[in-house]
Amino acid sequence: MTKRVRKAIFPVGGLGTRFLPATKAMPKEMLPVVDKPLVQYAVEEARAAGIEQFIFVTGRGKQAIEDHFDHSYELHDVLTRRDKRDLLAVIDEIKLPAGAVTYTRQPEALGLGHAVWCARHLIGDEPFAVLLADDLILADQPCLKQMVDAHAGVGGSMIAVMDVPPAHTSRYGIVAPGSAVADPRLVPVQGLVEKPKPEAAPSTLAVIGRYIIDGSVFAELDRKQTGAGGEIQLTDALARLIGQVPFHGFRFAGERFDCGDKVGFLEANLAFALKRPDLAQHVKAFLPRYAAAC
Ligand code: UTP
Repeated sequence: MTKRVRKAIFPVGGLGTRFLPATKAMPKEMLPVVDKPLVQYAVEEARAAGIEQFIFVTGRGKQAIEDHFDHSYELHDVLTRRDKRDLLAVIDEIKLPAGAVTYTRQPEALGLGHAVWCARHLIGDEPFAVLLADDLILADQPCLKQMVDAHAGVGGSMIAVMDVPPAHTSRYGIVAPGSAVADPRLVPVQGLVEKPKPEAAPSTLAVIGRYIIDGSVFAELDRKQTGAGGEIQLTDALARLIGQVPFHGFRFAGERFDCGDKVGFLEANLAFALKRPDLAQHVKAFLPRYAAAC
């Protein structure tokens, strides 16, 4: 029987150089989309998927993330005295259950594979989820919930995938797909290539930052082999699991925004604002007016 996915890793140890100067002293994962930090969207998605243990792999300068998910006595006190019940509800919603959160450090940003490896003693021998907060997914049913449900049927490892323009393959891990299976959302993974040039890419199916990973990946990550960009790549370790455990790409329903990139981040802010009844009308009126004046 497939083991239930109970634990999620949030790797938040990266340097976020593409967002300098904003990320010089502030974690990239705390950048807000409208009024909520990226990492909170990821945690809410994990909770909606039934995750019970939340493991953050942090680094230097990332304390704001720990504070964000902790109780804030001063703020709570001020809001209570001012009878701001709506805001109290907003901050109470952020808190995670006592004992459900663990922070571990990645001493150096050596790559995503290394970040996941840093959490190995907190996972054990069970499938676990990995969520990259800078991939923000707008969906009717949260992406990880879609994946957890599909994973219950097939087990093994599963990665979220989506088609990207051929010119963009060098920004992603790219899947070499096997033959189609009955569920059109599932793509058997025959190979994985990290950031191939378009001419070397086996497809245009790119890996997005949602994973369900079989515990056996840690034996591969133990080798600490470096790959593209001199980093310890998660994709490379996953590629070595092919053939050992079932391995599927999952075509999720929803819109993904690359919030690690300026254009994707701006688009996410507009898309999420347009979904908000208190903001949508204003944004719709402002954009064409301002664009025409530029
Ligand atoms: P990115 O590949 O976007 O790297 O990481 P980055 O360092 O954060 O950003 P840039 O490229 O310099 O702008 C994707 C996710 O993986 C985490 C990041 O924190 C981010 O959430 N990560 C990356 C780690 O936790 N450790 C690493 O060594 C690398």
